[in-house]
Amino acid sequence: MKNIRLLLLAPLVLAGSVSSPLYAAEKLTYYCSAQEDWCQLMATGFEEATGIKVNMTRKSSGETLAQLKAESSNPKGDIWWGGTGDPHLQAAEEGLLAAYESPMRGEQNDWAIKQSESAGNQTIGIYSGALGYGYNEDVLTANNLPVPACWSDLLKPEYKGHVQMANPNSSGTAYTTLATIVQLFGEDEGFEFMKGLHKNINQYTKSGSAPIKAAARGENTIGIVFMHDAVKQAASGFPIKVVAPCEGTGYEIGGMSLIKDGRNPENAQKFYDWALTADVQTRALEVNAFQVMSNKGATSSPKAPDLASIKLIDYDFKKYGSSAERKRLLKKWDDEVSVLPQ
Ligand code: F6P
Repeated sequence: MKNIRLLLLAPLVLAGSVSSPLYAAEKLTYYCSAQEDWCQLMATGFEEATGIKVNMTRKSSGETLAQLKAESSNPKGDIWWGGTGDPHLQAAEEGLLAAYESPMRGEQNDWAIKQSESAGNQTIGIYSGALGYGYNEDVLTANNLPVPACWSDLLKPEYKGHVQMANPNSSGTAYTTLATIVQLFGEDEGFEFMKGLHKNINQYTKSGSAPIKAAARGENTIGIVFMHDAVKQAASGFPIKVVAPCEGTGYEIGGMSLIKDGRNPENAQKFYDWALTADVQTRALEVNAFQVMSNKGATSSPKAPDLASIKLIDYDFKKYGSSAERKRLLKKWDDEVSVLPQ
């Protein structure tokens, strides 16, 4: 009889342990918007370092912002790591993130801290990288196409069907492209540029780095991407050449943010502090992630694009990461560019 009673109680005991704080302390729900292999490396690295079980979802920057909004009444994620800074800033402004000042802040570059301070410490810069494009040299030659060097070259009629970029609604890379073109050429001329470019685009992808992966496979010629994503393909042995556009270009400050009312806030802080260490950031090289890291002590590869030698615009993160401006530009692109015939 006693044994039967114990057996009957067993499921209750087990169920109790599932919802106990001890069990909850062993998990982390991690949203990642950087490249898939780096996302994975961070997840397994954190599991190995702490024993905390990581549940990861990889989505592009704009898509993750949309997910945070959709889940805001019942947040499921704990931390958002990677992806362009603009949607992180928008999420901060829209009350989706939690403020945090990590003890690791002293080791970070000024640009990472500036990004944090501009959002009431609800996000922080973790890496930086310049926008540009890459092309497949073999496909270019096979099609008798000239070598492009400037943004304006991409409007030439001979490139029709040869240029690919992501959709700026889903992709932070493509939103950075739109905001860069507007800042470089002014809004009217910038939108004329986007309309001209539209004529040459063969596909708007969901993810920012997809166009250069397609170029590496020979399925596309020119991909508008962050330069480090093009270098990654070249480093893997594909015939990809990287271009820093002659007129100058924009750049990203990749973000990391704690999600407001996440279910595992302590584990999220642990991940946040860990991800800001020099050793963890140096591990990016294991997956050919060639961004410039936020920690001043992290080692960067000689293959990484040298930001000091690229003509960079003074990208206005405050403005282009603001909720109103980001929504306005995206709507304008949807209404005036994406609907045009090609
Ligand atoms: O592939 C890496 C990367 O370019 C990051 O540097 C950047 O923050 C992120 O991808 C942007 O991805 P997406 O354009 O898909 O939002």
